[in-house]
Amino acid sequence: MRIAIIGCGTLGEAVLGGMLASQTTEPSNITVTTRRREHAAELAETHGVRATTDNVAAVEAADIVVVSVKPQRARELLPTLAGALADKLVIATCAGVRLRQYEAWMPSSAVIRAMPNTPCLIREGMTVLSPGQGVTEQQLEAARAIFAASGRCIVLEEKHMDAVTGLSGSGPAFAFVVLEALADGGVMMGLPRDAAVELAAQTMQGAARLVLETDDHPAALKDQVTTPAGCTIAGLLTMEDGKIRSTLARAIQEATNVASRLGDAGDAPNP
Ligand SMILES: NC(=O)c1ccc[n+]([C@@H]2O[C@H](COP(=O)([O-])OP(=O)(O)OC[C@H]3O[C@@H](n4cnc5c(N)ncnc54)[C@H](OP(=O)(O)O)[C@@H]3O)[C@@H](O)[C@H]2O)c1
Repeated sequence: MRIAIIGCGTLGEAVLGGMLASQTTEPSNITVTTRRREHAAELAETHGVRATTDNVAAVEAADIVVVSVKPQRARELLPTLAGALADKLVIATCAGVRLRQYEAWMPSSAVIRAMPNTPCLIREGMTVLSPGQGVTEQQLEAARAIFAASGRCIVLEEKHMDAVTGLSGSGPAFAFVVLEALADGGVMMGLPRDAAVELAAQTMQGAARLVLETDDHPAALKDQVTTPAGCTIAGLLTMEDGKIRSTLARAIQEATNVASRLGDAGDAPNP
């Protein structure tokens, strides 16, 4: 599989890192592009892939093209690449940009809308795919194979993509804040900072894996560690006093609302 990543910034590099770590394809089969020459040189040096600022050459050398530029850049760039992208599979990751917009900009391409997240870098990503018109089962499988090698990957209808963007696209940032706050609590009570961060991170990873691997409801797992009159219930009630549930749920609601406007003309700011 010859793959191009158009716009290899934060997310593009995470997807690239996942592909390389999972040996989805050889580095020599991957071409990435950036706007700045020096960034392209840095990516070639770090990852051993071909890197260029020439989008047309990169697209022409690929069977599958991942687009990871900012949404307003996609609006300017993709119509100019429509000819080179004809008959290719395009996997586009721009928050808020709809399939019908991509299909108008690239009428001869098969487009899959994708929402990965940055833990793809270490093969712990979460990606949701929504196929556009005319995408074949084989093309969807190819896209699924790329992202499943970098973590989990599911297919959902496009109507869910803004909520996906708010939850798993933006989610790593929310998780980092919660994790840092837990560590701060440990530091407040005298733990060394590095130990507190390790405890908080491994505890969040362990709790998340228990949910994924047991399929138990999070509330049932929480009840298992909550002894009557114990320290855990004391901590939980303090969290409830701070409205942690509605604060986090409303953060997803707000991120979803903002994501839904990112593909609009008028160029809203990026996530
Ligand atoms: N960051 C996330 O966690 C995340 C998660 C899900 C989805 N997304 C989506 O992924 C996309 C990229 O986000 P990001 O955070 O990775 O942004 P970013 O770090 O700013 O990366 C954008 C990349 O596009 C390159 N670029 C700009 N104009 C270009 C052009 N004309 N030709 C080729 N490359 C060009 C930039 O090159 P230079 O480096 O040379 O400037 C940069 O490397 C966005 O649409 C966003 O909605 C991001």
